[in-house]
Amino acid sequence: MQTANIQTIATQPFDDQRPGTSGLRKKVDIFQQPHYLENFVQAIFDTQPELAGGLLILGGDGRFHNDVAIATILRMAAANGVARVMVGQHGYLSTPAVSHLIRKYHAQGGIILSASHNPGGPQGDFGIKFNIANGGPAPETVTEAIYTATRSITRYRRLSDAAPPIDQCGAFQLGGMRVEIIDPVADYAELMTRLFDFDAMREWIASGHQLRFDAMHAITGPYARHLFVDLLGTPEEWILNATPLPDFGGGHPDPNLKHAAKLVNLTKGDQGVDFAAASDGDGDRNMILGRDCFVTPSDSLAILTANAALAPGYREGARGVARSMPTSQAVDRVAERLGIPHYETPTGWKYFGNLLDAGLITFCGEESFGTGSDHVREKDGLWAVLFWLNLLAASGNSVADLLKAHWREYGRNYYTRHDYEGIDSELAGQLMEDLRARLGQLPGQRFDERTVRWADDFAYTDPVDASRSTHQGLRIGFDDGARIVLRLSGTGTQGATLRLYLEKLETNPDEVTRDTQEVMQPLIQIADQLAEIRSRTGRQAPDVIT
Ligand code: G1P
Ligand code: ZN
Repeated sequence: MQTANIQTIATQPFDDQRPGTSGLRKKVDIFQQPHYLENFVQAIFDTQPELAGGLLILGGDGRFHNDVAIATILRMAAANGVARVMVGQHGYLSTPAVSHLIRKYHAQGGIILSASHNPGGPQGDFGIKFNIANGGPAPETVTEAIYTATRSITRYRRLSDAAPPIDQCGAFQLGGMRVEIIDPVADYAELMTRLFDFDAMREWIASGHQLRFDAMHAITGPYARHLFVDLLGTPEEWILNATPLPDFGGGHPDPNLKHAAKLVNLTKGDQGVDFAAASDGDGDRNMILGRDCFVTPSDSLAILTANAALAPGYREGARGVARSMPTSQAVDRVAERLGIPHYETPTGWKYFGNLLDAGLITFCGEESFGTGSDHVREKDGLWAVLFWLNLLAASGNSVADLLKAHWREYGRNYYTRHDYEGIDSELAGQLMEDLRARLGQLPGQRFDERTVRWADDFAYTDPVDASRSTHQGLRIGFDDGARIVLRLSGTGTQGATLRLYLEKLETNPDEVTRDTQEVMQPLIQIADQLAEIRSRTGRQAPDVIT
């Protein structure tokens, strides 16, 4: 190693580098402060000694500051003794692709640069997340160790040499480290061709069905182009917003009914396309639409589990399933029918890692447009989209038919999430605190025709390593199976976001196709009465309803 080129730079701790639900996320200008990114990256190297002499996967969603951060991290990795880095061409790698590369090439870890679905650009958000050797997000023990290291950091190391250009595939030497610039799509696409029936999907498309995929000017554009246009033969125009842009074209790369409204419109009416889907900034989320219909992520998880055998990669069906606590219980009903275990974990993908590694589950998902399986250790947007396309092609049914058939067979867990964004943090904390204090008195209380059966502050003990996570959200269950959940977001970058999750089970087959918001009205009133959301926040309605 050419130690002569290593610089040791003196620095001071920042006190706000505790990673949230999904890594460290801040406004871009915070990351642009001198030493800010460097401190956090050095804390990763200081706490993860196996990276020295090892392989690191590096890439991001292409947002503003991605390139600057990658150059910095390459120089620091070389100075911290990393033997080899694989970085996506242009610095591009989707989050699931990073997870796959870590696993495929037995890397010691990966660094993902993204703030997921949050807007990008100089005024937008930036983020950094460390994934461990199993390909999944670092568990709390690791993120806490990194945070602790940031609290007492005094120096970081970097190479004085400039980082190599990364706009062409190839290999470079940077100090003692080998930098391999790789095609970001190839390995991931190869994995997908092993899991899904590409012949059936190609035929479905060739026989006149229409689909659209919205990459939202974020990372999935290049992936979708290869998978859909090159491998499945769709016209180029079917991939919308396919070019990644540093500011996502000014949009909000969050695939939900609000931010992907144009795509939703293409599914409306008799001329609507048969299938439409979108993914988010870093490619781990998905939204699934059929003609005149929307599949909630909770239902999607249940339906994929119930129909798994239609996909070649899942012919044996699921071993077990897991969902995050606020996700609807639809998949639990499928698991019970299949006689497989189901788990309820706190919000955030990292809690699925142990269950997947231990072989306890095949599928997992979150209501927040995240669905995945044991093929990687992240949620995977395009995987879910291909899975649905595979179901449509293999079953010959439309999205709406699959949905209705599922509800009639298993009942429908009507479900909605209401978000109140940018609330004063203290006020939001107090609202939660006061409701938490009242939970003990709720059981037995009547609200119109419903009675509270149980209420708790959700805590989780990991069945694999017995680690415990507390204060993961307030849950209130009613005698008719309805459920209200409240929690504060752990990914926001400004103020607090209050999330209210509402669920109501309907088992009468004649009642399963009603309008969700209408069905939910009584429960919404109860939630407001319980948590005093409107009176305390002054908000009359949520900012986002999904
Ligand atoms: C949100 C979602 C959560 C997801 C996370 C990262 O976190 O609710 O399910 O894992 O983004 O994509 P939150 O802001 O609610 O903490
Ligand atoms: Zn994401």
